[in-house]
Amino acid sequence: MEEQQIRELLKQIKYPGFSRDIVSFGMVPEIIIKADKVMVNLKILSDNRDTVEAVAEEVRQLLKTETDYTQIEITLIETPQGSAPQALTPKDPFASQRSLQNIKHIIAVASGKGGVGKSTVSVNLAATLQKRGFRTGLLDLDIYGPSLPIILGINERPSVSPDKKLVPLERFGLQVMSFGFISGNQAPAIWRGPMVAKMTEQFFNDVEWGELDFLILDLPPGTGDVQLTLVQKLKFDGAIMVTTPQDIAVADVSKGADMFRKVDVPVLGVIENMSGLQLSGKIVDNQGAPITGAVLELDGVGTYPLDQAGSFNARLDLFKQGGGSRESTRLNVPLLGEIPISRELVEATDAGRPIIEQNPESIITAIYGKIADKIITQLEKRG
Ligand SMILES: Nc1ncnc2c1ncn2[C@@H]1O[C@H](COP(=O)(O)OP(=O)(O)OP(=O)(O)O)[C@@H](O)[C@H]1O
Ligand SMILES: [Mg+2]
Repeated sequence: MEEQQIRELLKQIKYPGFSRDIVSFGMVPEIIIKADKVMVNLKILSDNRDTVEAVAEEVRQLLKTETDYTQIEITLIETPQGSAPQALTPKDPFASQRSLQNIKHIIAVASGKGGVGKSTVSVNLAATLQKRGFRTGLLDLDIYGPSLPIILGINERPSVSPDKKLVPLERFGLQVMSFGFISGNQAPAIWRGPMVAKMTEQFFNDVEWGELDFLILDLPPGTGDVQLTLVQKLKFDGAIMVTTPQDIAVADVSKGADMFRKVDVPVLGVIENMSGLQLSGKIVDNQGAPITGAVLELDGVGTYPLDQAGSFNARLDLFKQGGGSRESTRLNVPLLGEIPISRELVEATDAGRPIIEQNPESIITAIYGKIADKIITQLEKRG
């Protein structure tokens, strides 16, 4: 069996606690074959000696049963705790993962189509998690069209730490970083996929996050080289797919979800954004007194009873309904939430504040709360 075949074989071994294999994690930097001897160097990034040895033993057993080599030698390359990323060679695929040791969960927010609300979802989800007491970071990886500077009203530049890393800015208790903070602008439009991917990866590695419970990645739209490279280089917990209700957006999000699955990144759930139009208000008589005990009838929309204050909440489905729900069924993942088109949300965004800050009582804030709950449940389920 040749080196390449052995590498393929070792892809059967998953890194404990992850759905990804040790080869794609870059934990098998070298395989040397000499006559009937195979030598495998393993570089298992874990501070837990038992984990490291369990993986090594699994490798040994697999080689023993599946190959004809009479001698199997496994060398564990030391990965000292907290060793500086600079000590690693730039080509080391671990370099990116090493810097993320202090981050418990990384979740990417993705879509097939542009403009469906990924950035809005990323910011509000991050803010919701932060309000729950989780230390949360937010990274805008859309280098062609960074949105965070606008959505969070930031025009500061990040400082640089003594070891030349970018220090995230803090907003509403969130640690935030965007390509827009350093470029002040966007990547040149002529940049091709590989260049953007490289830039993105480097940018990703150059941020000093500190301890985080969650890092939310706001991805650029689509399923191009950039997303693929990112997904292969970085260690994610999973992706959240954002779609609008229309068939065309759903078709694109399906492609995106399938791409993640192909590279073993679980899809944690689907969010349908711009899911109907949220109308709320109240009906009063011409003295301004609330009308109660009545029902508001909107043609083609529905009937809504007025409450004690004469208020109503109605939802108008502008587009076809249920695209997000169909896609979540297809993927067999939860529909995390349906977020209506909301003027309040647009106003909050324009004011550079997450809705949860702007209006903690809003229906949208409550929806984000439920989305966060479901994500946490998903992560707990997966251990
Ligand atoms: N539920 C919503 N109700 C009303 N407006 C919304 C809603 N969600 C997003 N928007 C608005 O839609 C626009 C696009 O949203 P956003 O920038 O979050 O999308 P995106 O998917 O990140 O776009 P891109 O693909 O360009 O990165 C923004 O102006 C945003 O304020
Ligand atoms: Mg965006």
